[in-house]
Formats: sequence, structure tokens, C-alpha cells
Amino acid sequence: MAIERTDPQTVQEAAALLRAGELCAFATETVYGLGADATNSNAVLKIYETKGRPRFNPLICHCADLEMAERYAVFSPLAREIAEIFWPGPLTLVLPVKPGGSLSDLVTAGLNTVGLRVPAHPMARDLISGLGRPVAGPSANPSGKLSPTTAEHVRAAFGSAVPVLDGGPCYSGVESTILAVEDDRVTQLRAGAMPRENIEAALGRPVAQASHDAAITAPGMLKSHYAPGAALRLDANAPSPGEAYLAFGEAPAHDGPLLNLSPEGDLREAARNLFAFLARLDASGAKTIAVAPIPHSGLGEAINDRLERAAAPRG
Ligand code: TXA
Ligand code: MG
Repeated sequence: MAIERTDPQTVQEAAALLRAGELCAFATETVYGLGADATNSNAVLKIYETKGRPRFNPLICHCADLEMAERYAVFSPLAREIAEIFWPGPLTLVLPVKPGGSLSDLVTAGLNTVGLRVPAHPMARDLISGLGRPVAGPSANPSGKLSPTTAEHVRAAFGSAVPVLDGGPCYSGVESTILAVEDDRVTQLRAGAMPRENIEAALGRPVAQASHDAAITAPGMLKSHYAPGAALRLDANAPSPGEAYLAFGEAPAHDGPLLNLSPEGDLREAARNLFAFLARLDASGAKTIAVAPIPHSGLGEAINDRLERAAAPRG
């Protein structure tokens, strides 16, 4: 007989699970996170085991507000300015760990920096406030696979092993943008749901991008990541026979499986649909998913980044 999973029905029940050192998946505006109390090493260890995540890949910590975040990291004036503009929201800051903070060493994977963000999703913030401590939370998918944007995706990936606090479909749909801030220098480590152009406009200066080939400071930067079972063929104006097609804007006629990220060509809608549509086309059984060209501006930077990693040769 299948094991019954008991999902928490309220934020309070989910916070109680975390307080007891258990895992609980939860919705954020970007993707579902696999949550644990970030100050409890036994709990954090369960994240790595459940995801099959390499231990050298640090986790980001979700805080209820800037005040909580400042207990765990050192904010330069620039870091504080960025946090005040963009939090709550889909932006992660990688900052020096504050000495004497109580985060588990497993969260930072032994680095002297920590990734922090304050999510905008009200349920996520209530969960963190309910626990009263940061919630470590990588995306709630097996390491290297497609990220989950619904509670159903999490259940499909982990079955009864992980309780899920259902907060509905994620309304941004791609992971947070990650910035490393060192004193007054800022570098984008991962493109994400907060477009780089918005950050540059707010700060009035360009934001450097970490090169793809840089040493892995964010293993979300691993070349092959977010991989579906099918191969991906990018920048395809039309599908070949036998392929599934992920369209954007006006779609060509096609006999096989076809989903349109955004018939109107809206990048926000496309980001929201990206992982769910890749998962559905993958489930269609097609060996190859051809993907329409997607503009690179704005949110297109993050969408193209995820597609390139999903298409990369598997290592
Ligand atoms: O939107 C998101 O960021 C989602 C939701 C759940 O908040 N979380 C997420 O977590 O995408 P994850 O673990 O899948 O990706 C976090 C990335 C990883 O690539 C990790 O290597 C990087 O953040 N990271 C975490 N701490 C870091 C640090 N101290 N230095 C450099 N990179 C770090
Ligand atoms: Mg991830």
C-alpha cells in the first residue's frame, strides 16, 4: 500500500514541521523551495540527501525581512540599498557571513558568504515569520532536473518523502536573480526573475555578469542543469516531424505535441509557463523538444539561460 503523505494544511502546521527539524516544501513567487530550518544541521542535511545535491553547492536562506537578514550577513551600504529597493522580491544577495550568526555550516557549504533573499510570496513570508528563523530552501526538485512551479510538480518528484505547503502556482516561474555584492562591487551570478536591466536602472550603473566559464560560485551555473529527459533543440523556427514544439509568439502548424509559452509574445507569461510546459512536453514522450527563439532582453535573459542549461550535453 502506498504511504500516505500528510501535507500541512496551514502555514502554522508547516512551521511546526520545520521547527521539529523536518523538511517542508513551500511556494515562493519564483519556484517551490525545499525548506528546512537553516540553523539546524540535521534538517539541512536532509535537503542535500533528498535532492541528491552535491555538498559543495550552498543553499540560499529565505528571511522574513531585512532585519532578520542582517543578523546573518554583513551588509555594505550598497548591499543595503539593493535590499531596500528589491526586497521582498525575486533577488538573492550573496554577502559575507556575519561572524557569530547561527546558520548551519552546511547551508554555506563552508564558504564565507551566504545567499539570502526575502521572498514576496505572502505564504513564504508567513512561514519564515512562523519559524522565526531563516528557511534554507533550494528549488524543490531532484538536483539537475526541471524546477517545480506547482505543488503537483513537487509531489511528482518526491512522492511521499516531502510534505508540501500548497501556495498555488508560482507567479514568476523562474528562480531569483543572484547578485554577489562585495563592498561597492556588484556581480550577477545567475540571471533570474528580476531582470538585470531593472537592477541597473535602479542603481544607475551597469551590473557585471559572471562569465559562464568562471569557477563555479553558483552551481546553478553548472552547464547542464534544469534538464528534462528529452533533448532540446533551441532557436528552432519550426519543429521537425516527431519533435515536440515549445512555441513563443505566433506558432507554426504542427502535428505533434505543441505548447505556446506566450501567444502574445509576453516574456512574463513565458517565464511563468517555462518549467511547467517543458515538463508537459517531456511527458509527451517526444525524444526532442524544439524551442522557438526567445528574445534575450529583460526576463528573456533568464529564460534563455535556463533553456541553454537544459539543452547542454549531460555530464
Ligand atoms: O528563486 C529561488 O532562488 C529559489 C526559491 C526556492 O527561492 N531557490 C533556488 O535555490 O533557486 P537553488 O538552490 O536551486 O539555487 C540557489 C543558487 C545555487 O546555484 C547556489 O549555488 C547559489 O544559489 N548560492 C547559494 N549560496 C551561495 C553563495 N554563498 N555563493 C555563491 N552562490 C551561492
Ligand atoms: Mg535549483
